[in-house]
Amino acid sequence: MDKIVIEGGNCLEGSARINGAKNAALPIMAACLLLNGPSRIKGIPNIVDIQTQSEILRNLGGEVKKLDDETLEIIFRDGENSDKFTAPYELVRKMRASICVLGPLLSKRRRAKVSYPGGCVIGQRPIDLHIKGLSALGAQIETTEGYVNASADKLVGTNISFTGKTVLGTCNVMTAAVLAEGTTTIEYAACEPEVQDLANFLNKAGAKITGIGESKLTIEGVQELRGVDYEIIPDRIEAGTFMIASAITRGDITLQNVRADHLSAVIDKLRETGVEITITGNEIRVKGNTVYHAVDLMTVPYPGMPTDMQAQFMALLCIVEGKSIITEKIFPDRFIHAAELRRMGADIRVDGPSAIIRGAPFLSGTEVMVSDLRAGAGLVLAGLVAKGTTHIHRVYHLDRGYERLEDRLSKLGAAIKRVRV
Ligand code: EPZ
Repeated sequence: MDKIVIEGGNCLEGSARINGAKNAALPIMAACLLLNGPSRIKGIPNIVDIQTQSEILRNLGGEVKKLDDETLEIIFRDGENSDKFTAPYELVRKMRASICVLGPLLSKRRRAKVSYPGGCVIGQRPIDLHIKGLSALGAQIETTEGYVNASADKLVGTNISFTGKTVLGTCNVMTAAVLAEGTTTIEYAACEPEVQDLANFLNKAGAKITGIGESKLTIEGVQELRGVDYEIIPDRIEAGTFMIASAITRGDITLQNVRADHLSAVIDKLRETGVEITITGNEIRVKGNTVYHAVDLMTVPYPGMPTDMQAQFMALLCIVEGKSIITEKIFPDRFIHAAELRRMGADIRVDGPSAIIRGAPFLSGTEVMVSDLRAGAGLVLAGLVAKGTTHIHRVYHLDRGYERLEDRLSKLGAAIKRVRV
């Protein structure tokens, strides 16, 4: 197992290129099940979750080949492998997002058997809304022996109204509806850029989806979808993480390949804190300041503050004088990193879905443990500014979603390395 070791205190400077979005790539890869013929998808990050998704697709009969460092070719062909419809526990347990094969499998192969994803450290992670939406399209779904077993003679378009916003639930219903008979509407659909990217990908392949980016999606069923060439949107959470790396080290970093329009809530909150941000086309320059102001923030569905940026903001606010309050509206228990940050000297009190942070004059390096991907990002950021040495354990969580994070931070001037233990 590896650990990351950081000598805090270096100011980060230079430029970094942001990769394609993990959370767009995963459902788009799954949606290739719906397409006849090869697709070449560019902007795929080199991370463990992508390897897991590739394995799941190969297990379902797909050909998944790396064409270059950031491009995957994925081939499914109509009429082939129709007897393969299982995503087994050994693979699903590695990555909860593998639930996004459910909609495409049901649509294309009329059967899906997907290991029921368990909860995780960020919360309970139910899938009742996925099941409700797919059932409304005509699927019979039951859970037996730890698997979601779904089947349908045919799927027929209908009006679905979600009672809560769900990113992957929207993806699953959208992918099941694209080849269904008739028209489906999804009210209260998730509007996240990653959901929009999936819809744009499907449309390029021949689907008829309108209302992309709005909370009502309309999907007119079509007969066939064909393989396409497509480029994934830049990862807004990776960009936000690097932005805070610059802010917390009072550095000056320019990020390339960024969609500022996907980061409005993050940019606004960083500016309110006192960070200088300049946007030029698809580049963002983030300049740290000597004085920052305490801020309050609340995680909500897009276009509001993403829950996947909560831990990184918490790390920053730990060193900002005054009282800041973070309220977590998406995953109210997603605060395990607060206890690790406290070990570094942070003053954080968790009260239900809120964390009250009183800025400390400094953080000090120590041994800390990563509980999930974004918690890990928060701890790395804290380590960059802490006095002394921070040892971050269980970095496999980080590798699930960030490509060579330590190398890229090191190029910007951080004293950071990976050590085999
Ligand atoms: C996606 O997870 C992301 N994962 C998560 O990113 C992200 O934190 C989350 O959306 C919220 O933005 C991927 O895209 C692969 P949800 P998802 O369904 O779709 C409740 C990361 O670090 N809910 O939008 O699984 C749920 O409990 C990961 O990259 C139901 O009640 O999240 C939560 O409170 C972690 N019933 C809220 O909805 C359901 O059937 C939002 O969850 C489904 C969800």
